[in-house]
Amino acid sequence: MHVRKVVIPVAGLGTRLLPTTRALPKEMLPVGKYPAIQHVVEEMAAANLTKCLFITSHSKTIIEDQFDNNVDLSSQSDPNHGSNDQGQLDYILRGIEFFYTRQQALSSASRPRGTGAAILAAESFVDKEHFAVAYGDTIINTRHTPNFLARMIESHLEHGSACTVGVRPVTSDMVGRYGIVKPDPADDLNADSFAIRDLVEKPGADEAPSLMAVSARYVFSPEIFEEIRALTQAAGEEIGVTEAIRGLIRREKPVRCVRLLPDETRYDIGSHASYYRAFIDFALQDPECGDRIREYLEACVKHAGKSP
Ligand code: UTP
Repeated sequence: MHVRKVVIPVAGLGTRLLPTTRALPKEMLPVGKYPAIQHVVEEMAAANLTKCLFITSHSKTIIEDQFDNNVDLSSQSDPNHGSNDQGQLDYILRGIEFFYTRQQALSSASRPRGTGAAILAAESFVDKEHFAVAYGDTIINTRHTPNFLARMIESHLEHGSACTVGVRPVTSDMVGRYGIVKPDPADDLNADSFAIRDLVEKPGADEAPSLMAVSARYVFSPEIFEEIRALTQAAGEEIGVTEAIRGLIRREKPVRCVRLLPDETRYDIGSHASYYRAFIDFALQDPECGDRIREYLEACVKHAGKSP
């Protein structure tokens, strides 16, 4: 078996980033030289995922333009000023195909129904294959080959899992923000992958079953669609992925986790504070301007926040 399809949900409203996201999707915010979503697509390409389906909405068509190879600005750029780097948009040559579909909404709903509903929109694209999911507002920065998602896929196939969840360690004051996994006590949390018994959404610090938080990357068997569909009938407004994964666990399907390595970083573009951090880190790593930005920031800090 082989995993070649990835579903990238980008249909959220981005309300935590207002007013930035009134007209610009958060997935298109620049993080260094690329918009966030292009870092995600590069991560998919590095994991050998060749068929990318974006789950979009009416306000996200700019994402289609970003990956449209008819929009070629190379003849317009001035060779003496600025960069000719078009951002590796040679996806056709690299064998990567893009597909787009809209997330369906209930006519009575005031907002999209959540990431579970986004994934359900991928059912006919996925067909009967195992597939990856990568949230379009989260970047995983790594220098490792295989990268995080590629290691998740390896583990998923090796263990015959129904679901593989990407996780990372968080501090106890942060558990209330994330889905937290309950590891199987028989497994070693430091191993390449470990089985889980449950998943708890945003627990209190004293109820958290571990300090391992979900990290916006998943690999699923198509069995997940049945679990999500069951929730669409029962649940209220929001359909989360956590409940669907709990359904797999209740049916005793193998669900495992792969953790981020200590020198891999997850950047969430969902709030201003985490977005600023992502932009600064990528600007500092920029081969052309990183050193100048570092000097600038050091001078800013030295002058107590006043622009030097
Ligand atoms: P989030 O829940 O973090 O995004 O979803 P959001 O709903 O846009 O956030 P706020 O609360 O309004 O600020 C993670 C990813 O899943 C997509 C988002 O676009 C984001 O990339 N998403 C979210 C969907 O595709 N559909 C949804 O119904 C919700």
